[in-house]
Amino acid sequence: MFSERVSKVELSGIRKFFEMADENTINLGIGQPDFQPPRSAIEAYRDAMLNGHNGYGSTSGLVELREEIAKEYSKYRPGLTKDNVLIHTGATQGLKIITESLVDDHIEVLCPQPGFVLYEAQVRLAGGNTISYPLKKENDFIPTLEDLEERRTPNTKAMIVNSPSNPSGAVYPDDRIKEMVDWAKEHDIVVISDEVYEKLVYGEDHKSFLGKGDNVVMVNSFSKRFAMTGWRIGFSIAREDWIKKLGKINYYNIACPPNPTQHAALHALRNESDFVEKMYDTFLKRRDIIVDRLNQIEGFDCMMPKGAFYVFPRYSFDMGAEELAKKILENGVLAVPGTAFGPAGKGHIRFSYANSKENINKALDIIEDAAADWKIDDG
Ligand SMILES: Cc1ncc(COP(=O)(O)O)c(C=O)c1O
Repeated sequence: MFSERVSKVELSGIRKFFEMADENTINLGIGQPDFQPPRSAIEAYRDAMLNGHNGYGSTSGLVELREEIAKEYSKYRPGLTKDNVLIHTGATQGLKIITESLVDDHIEVLCPQPGFVLYEAQVRLAGGNTISYPLKKENDFIPTLEDLEERRTPNTKAMIVNSPSNPSGAVYPDDRIKEMVDWAKEHDIVVISDEVYEKLVYGEDHKSFLGKGDNVVMVNSFSKRFAMTGWRIGFSIAREDWIKKLGKINYYNIACPPNPTQHAALHALRNESDFVEKMYDTFLKRRDIIVDRLNQIEGFDCMMPKGAFYVFPRYSFDMGAEELAKKILENGVLAVPGTAFGPAGKGHIRFSYANSKENINKALDIIEDAAADWKIDDG
């Protein structure tokens, strides 16, 4: 009854674990800030509805919002205009229309592994083939050109990149970003850059793929920046002719992005540019606590991540990642097995620190106690 496409994707490994948790579980699995959006943005949302912004809008998105985004992101690629910007419903749907627009049945897309759960599934749903490229702990989860080149074939048409990264929290250095874009350009490969954690880079400025070449489409979102994950609002930036094509597909997906939400996001962009700073300081403190505490537990080895709000320690307990996540869950803490991000996540587990300091400490107390009984695999 259902299309073959449906059987090509599994239920997301993140969602599977979510559904096993109950209300008493300490949630270190969650991929969203534990903050509310700026109050003034909530009010702008309400006002937009009261002021009649309840009908269809432009397929590409509200002109003023696209202009505001173009203004801000010209810092990465000077001279952007509204015609370089497309609004969609979260980065999720942006990535969906981009893959749908680029992929045919013989096309291969390079996807990071371990990598965010959407990428490979969306390529398969679009009818294309995925080629995983490794993000290795020994390279601090930063891709290398050798690993990319080894996997390239004449059918490789696109590459998905993600910095700051989910699940590792890695942040790619500017020179590697430039090399990757140049390499992709040389081989006619489109770079799809997911930068939703742009505003959560610790101790340095965000380095964007945008502006490194005209073969880049950057996907971004207000979900994490303004803690509005449930509002479903995001945007892409690319060459004008690409945005036109993506806009056409946007129509067949959603007709237009939601109207009042765009007014609220525009208000936040204009008036709440420093909102993220409060979250930033809080996340930074929590990051240091969770990394320090994990590294004190025998069996965990945790890299200090430079971005996002995840840690992705390697563990040496004698069990698979799902089994470890289940044991942690039985003790009352939700984490996500590394294998939810692809087979290359084996031997890792992801904790989110989008939870209070108290809960993080409580969760780590629980894990420390439980881990004392888990056998370490010395081999
Ligand atoms: C790397 C990455 N990209 C995209 C998304 C989806 O973002 P949005 O809420 O904008 O759809 C997430 C959400 O967790 C993410 O972690």
